[in-house]
Amino acid sequence: MHHISQDTDHKRLYLRTFGCQMNEYDSQRMAQVLQSEYSLTLCPEEADLILINTCSIREKAENKVYSLVGRIKKFKEQRPDLVIGIGGCVAQQEGKRLLRRMPYVDLVFGPQAIYRLPSMLREIKMGKRPILSIETRDDFHIPLITSPLPEPNPVRTFVTIMQGCDNYCTYCIVPYVRGREVSRPPGDILAEIRAVIRQGVKEVTLLGQNVNSYGKKLGACPSFSGLLRMVAQVPGLRRLRFTTSHPRDLSRDVMECFRDLDNLCEHLHLPVQSGSTRILRRMNRHYTRDQYLKKIEELKSICPDICLTTDLIVGFPGETDADFEETLSLLRSVEFDQIFAFKYSPRPFTVAATWSDEYVPEGLKAERLTRVLELQREIGLRRYKAMENQVKEVLVEGPSKKNAEELMGRTRGNHIVNFLAPRDLIGKFVDVKISKACYHSLRGELSSPVS
Ligand code: 5AD
Ligand code: SF4
Repeated sequence: MHHISQDTDHKRLYLRTFGCQMNEYDSQRMAQVLQSEYSLTLCPEEADLILINTCSIREKAENKVYSLVGRIKKFKEQRPDLVIGIGGCVAQQEGKRLLRRMPYVDLVFGPQAIYRLPSMLREIKMGKRPILSIETRDDFHIPLITSPLPEPNPVRTFVTIMQGCDNYCTYCIVPYVRGREVSRPPGDILAEIRAVIRQGVKEVTLLGQNVNSYGKKLGACPSFSGLLRMVAQVPGLRRLRFTTSHPRDLSRDVMECFRDLDNLCEHLHLPVQSGSTRILRRMNRHYTRDQYLKKIEELKSICPDICLTTDLIVGFPGETDADFEETLSLLRSVEFDQIFAFKYSPRPFTVAATWSDEYVPEGLKAERLTRVLELQREIGLRRYKAMENQVKEVLVEGPSKKNAEELMGRTRGNHIVNFLAPRDLIGKFVDVKISKACYHSLRGELSSPVS
């Protein structure tokens, strides 16, 4: 009796997302294309449709998917009408093998098939199952969707400006599961941003695997810095961010946007991957340690307040102690606010996965990861401590993750701040005085609402 919904026609969708922001964006689109028939639920037990958007960037991410799908199997036993779909990168990578391994799955679909979800679900209802839809087309274009975002109305959201990747870093599976690099036309991007702002969004992050090469294949299109300048002018857009940048393609034009555009926040995620030029070459990254450090120096001189974060991989095949020391010394000299460090994980289709005779032993990878995180803890805490007693402009996003009595928001530098304040400030900009630095977050006290 407990879930008689007012709209009995509306079915329920449980949507679970793993992985990167690209996947979060894709999940949002799944909810949007299905919203005339399905509303979102947080309980898989009461769902009519369960969609799992998967990630295969590292083996660990892939395994999480298998364990979740295994747990969902029992719902299907209890309710044979339940439809289970697996989307995203594992779907793309494993395809038919997934269906063979898990016969209770009704649908396996890749990132390009999201827009056909309504018709595929109709076919399943008519008894045509399972469906496998993972073909990728090089001329695929992300459709423009300006319909309402899924509830609850978000304060910040992502807008994809390009998808796919042509870089072929030797460790990375992305080009194989996400296909070739395709930029969206600026008109679509602007229309989508205007639509989300109408719905109350204050902060937009432009998304792409390699945003700096935006427009390269579109001919008359603006460059990435040109696009940033256009987007920044959209009325009502209070904060703008972008991710991910490739260090090789980070141009002076883009750096100058941080100085020139008021709503472009002073945060850049610039994945370095390794501090050793030798390893960077083997990763096919097309920059050296010195070139990376020079770009950081140039950026800091153009925008002294810039906050930096990075990704790095430890234990890439052939990484010696000396190579690893270079990564540590790079962290010391750049002083990132936060790093995302990963143990190298061999991925299907990739070049580095064939260098098994040079694999770094698991124990050594784990030891290097611990050392890198220990060093970063020191650096990060020092950087966060320097913000104590400062007043920061915070965009309030919602209840705090750790303590539902509190609210959380973000500074322009992308630092998370937790503080006590009334709920009606969600979606507002407030001044918060930073009282205490923690690792990866700040505590603060409300000073005064700004707007
Ligand atoms: N092993 C470990 N980490 C990886 N990444 C990408 N591929 C791998 C891999 N095979 C990391 C990179 C990238 C981030 C999203 O994931 O650091 O920037
Ligand atoms: Fe992967 Fe490299 Fe492309 Fe990033 S730039 S998605 S790491 S291939």
